[in-house]
Formats: sequence, C-alpha cells, structure tokens
Amino acid sequence: MKITVIEAIERLTSGQVVSLPTETVYGLAACLNQPKAIENIFKLKGRPLHNPLIIHVANIQQIEDYLLHPVSLFDELASTFWPGPLTIILPIQTLKISEIVRAHLPSAAFRIPDQADTLRIIKEVGPLVMPSANISGYPSATMADHVEKDFGVDFPVLDGGSCEKGLESTILYYLNPTWVILRMGALTGESLEKVLGYRPEFFLTTEQQKKPLSPGQLLRHYSPHARLILGDPSALERAPFIVGFRERSYPEKSRVLYLGSINDVNEVANNLYHILRELDIQKSSWAWVDINFPTHGLWKTVSDRLTKAADTEPDDFT
Ligand code: TXA
Ligand code: MG
Repeated sequence: MKITVIEAIERLTSGQVVSLPTETVYGLAACLNQPKAIENIFKLKGRPLHNPLIIHVANIQQIEDYLLHPVSLFDELASTFWPGPLTIILPIQTLKISEIVRAHLPSAAFRIPDQADTLRIIKEVGPLVMPSANISGYPSATMADHVEKDFGVDFPVLDGGSCEKGLESTILYYLNPTWVILRMGALTGESLEKVLGYRPEFFLTTEQQKKPLSPGQLLRHYSPHARLILGDPSALERAPFIVGFRERSYPEKSRVLYLGSINDVNEVANNLYHILRELDIQKSSWAWVDINFPTHGLWKTVSDRLTKAADTEPDDFT
C-alpha cells in the first residue's frame, strides 16, 4: 500500500514499521527509540537476532552523541561520501543504543542515505534503523512492488521509484591501523582509496576472534528460489533461463533475462535484484548466469552478490 511522506512520519512516530526508499535499496524502517517496532522488524523479515541493524541519520551531529571516541579519517569519509552508499561501523557508548539494534556488539553501523523524502523523514522523526526491505535471505527490494511482494499489498511503502544504485551500501570498519571492507557495496574500493590513500581490503574475520566482524556476512543472502549456475559451459545448452548481457547471443531455446549492457555496470547493478526476483515470478527452477564480465569497480560487488545468490547450502538458510 503506497503511503505519503506525512503518513510515513505519522506511522513511524506511533511505533509502526514502514518501508522507505533509499538510493541503494528499499529499507524497513522503525524509529531508533521504538523498541517494539524494532522487534517487529526482525519478526517481519524472519531475521536472526544476532544480525545487527544500520542506524540511518540525517547529519553527523546525530552520530556524535553516541560515539565513544574519535576514529581516524572518519570525518573525511563522512564529509566525502555522505549522504551516500557508505555504512560506517563505529565504537559507541553502549548504554545509549539498545542491544537489539547492535546485537550486543560494542559498535553500531551508521549511514546518511541519499534520498530526499527519506532524509526529510529522518529530520522530522530522528534516527531510523533500516535493514533492507526483503524477507531474510531473499534478494533486496529495489522497487516498491518488490516490497509488496515480500510483505503483502497492505504493507505501507513510500514509493520512491526504482532505487538509483540497486545494490546495498558498502560497509567499512576501522581495524586499527586501517579501514577494512566488511561488505562490498555500491561504493567502490577505488573511490574509497581516493580518501584513505590505500585500497581497503575485504575482511571477514580477525585471526584472534575467528568470528565474523559483520554477523550478516555469513548468512545466506540475495538468493531467489531459482537455482543459479554461474558460467558453467556444460550447463548452458540445457538452461531454461539465461541471465546475461544485451550485446551477447545465447542458445535460442533459452529465455534470456538481460541485466543490461556489458558496457554499463551501473545499469547492471540497478537491474540485478529485479532480474533475480523475475526468475521466481517466471517460476524458473534454475538459470544459467553469464559471469564473463570485468573484475574491477562495481563489477566486484555484482560478482559478490551473484556468488552469494548462487550459494544454495541449505544449512546457511536463516
Ligand atoms: O544500503 C543499505 O545498507 C541498506 C539500506 C536500506 O540502507 N540497508 C541494509 O541493511 O543493507 P541490512 O540490515 O540488510 O544489512 C546490514 C548489514 C548486516 O550484514 C549487518 O550484519 C551489518 O550491516 N552490521 C550492522 N551493524 C553492525 C555492526 N555493529 N558491526 C558489524 N556489522 C554490522
Ligand atoms: Mg539485507
């Protein structure tokens, strides 16, 4: 059910959950000071409680209230990339942020999204927690219709059209003495290098801890019900569906769903989840995916998402 900005503000302040657009993907929003609504987000998504949420704010001042101590280059990162598709994990004063939001961690994730209506709402109601608006494990929602598909046509969603980026934010964590990437996303390592002076590494666990720095990274993610076969030439001829690129030709008896042009990674990123969801609408049991594409920039994130989407180990289901 489509709602207006005013209705979204009313619902959020009265402790309801609504879906809001961001430049990356749609989010399921609740006010940071509404614990029942936050609990409800976990229930609606079927999300494990050990997976913490991102706090979305409208300006850096809203973060300073929570911060435990200054972190190297945080101001530079924030002023260069916010509002935008970067999430930064920061050490916080734990008494000020409830355990359910941060899954008992001594840190919290923050971001200023780049979407005018959503920023207006945050300015009005204060910080919002917002995981992606999809059933846990399923591809993220990049259109209001995707949200209604997952949560029902009566679920309140502010329609902001198709999300500009189509991939989630990049998550950065300060692992003294360098920043590391916990989740690849819409902001590339190349862009981050310009501010940090080095290319941040992708990092899952520390040697000492042997547990992931970002709890969500080990869960099953982005997966449609259709099984995905990534580039295996022996499976191509039998594929009922092919996910590929406009410039290429594929076996004629398969149905091809185009991600976009091999020369336009932004278009591909923007279409990715829509196409993965389309496979399920078409009731495809499996599809062959063309993974013969470049390995730099945003293509890295596209590859990460396809790899995770194709991983069908049942134990990983959440
Ligand atoms: O683009 C995005 O980031 C979207 C839009 C709606 O803003 N949100 C999003 O949220 O992707 P979600 O909940 O689907 O993913 C958040 C990720 C999870 O993998 C979670 O484990 C990680 O952020 N995370 C949150 N707080 C953390 C923390 N304190 N330390 C490490 N990882 C954290
Ligand atoms: Mg998500």
